[in-house]
Amino acid sequence: MVKHATSPVDGGEGVRRVRHLLVDRLFHWLSAASVLILLGTALLPILGIELAWVTVHWVTGLMLAALVLGHTLRATFWQGLATMWIGLRDLADGWGGLRAALGVVREPVKVGGKYSLAQKAIHHAFAAVVLTAIATGCLMLVKIDTPWWQRDPYWLGDGAWGIIYVLHDLASLCLVTMVIVHIYFALRPEKFYLTRSMVLGWITGSEYRENYDTSRWEAEQE
Ligand code: HEM
Ligand code: HEM
Repeated sequence: MVKHATSPVDGGEGVRRVRHLLVDRLFHWLSAASVLILLGTALLPILGIELAWVTVHWVTGLMLAALVLGHTLRATFWQGLATMWIGLRDLADGWGGLRAALGVVREPVKVGGKYSLAQKAIHHAFAAVVLTAIATGCLMLVKIDTPWWQRDPYWLGDGAWGIIYVLHDLASLCLVTMVIVHIYFALRPEKFYLTRSMVLGWITGSEYRENYDTSRWEAEQE
């Protein structure tokens, strides 16, 4: 990675800060594409659009499972879980952020870490819902023919299959709403620099200083 010269005059403030490495950006966009394909293949047949959706659906589901496994290992052993952990301080920060958003306090509140409370909350909600969809989807594979086995609809009783199907469908319905809200927030002009950082990897030095408590998120220079 290119090191920009840090001039003594600006103290390095004009220098771009790394927000997402290429491997993390690839994970985000590949898992986003997988989720959109999974939702599309599940919902288009309901609208009467016929396609060989089952194969596309389960193959994409397995790809998403592999991506999430890779991300979980990387987050646990290479990045550290602290960045996404919600502590008491995050709750206090979230309260401060809400007051600023409602205009109760005038001065803008800086994010006290790499991710705000709202971002951590949506991350954990995505994790819970995506993991539910993956776990139930893997069990549902028993009920279809794959290159590795023939379908066995009697592997579990009707009651157990009922619960598995309801959880899978509930997870997909939650995902539709969550993805729409997530994309809406990503496209807001005042937070668009975050979307750019998910594409190009960096935020500018002034975006870093204006929006973040730099003592609590020490972003590396690009
Ligand atoms: C239970 C399993 C999971 C764990 C332990 C976990 C943990 C983490 C951690 C610690 C980070 C912060 C990394 C950093 O910026 O330093 C992170 C970021 C992120 N997570 Fe997860 N996560 C999990 C599941 C998921 C799922 C299911 C999704 C969605 C499909 C997801 C999507 C993301 C995205 C897009 C980011 C930001 C990209 C980045 O790391 O720069 N995570 N996760
Ligand atoms: C296709 C449109 C999508 C866009 C434009 C988009 C954009 C973004 C942006 C801008 C961020 C914040 C990065 C940052 O804080 O620096 C982000 C993070 C994240 N995205 Fe997406 N995303 C999309 C789809 C998805 C999908 C489908 C999922 C999962 C099912 C997902 C899961 C996540 C997670 C868990 C994070 C980390 C939490 C957060 O920062 O909000 N994204 N995404």
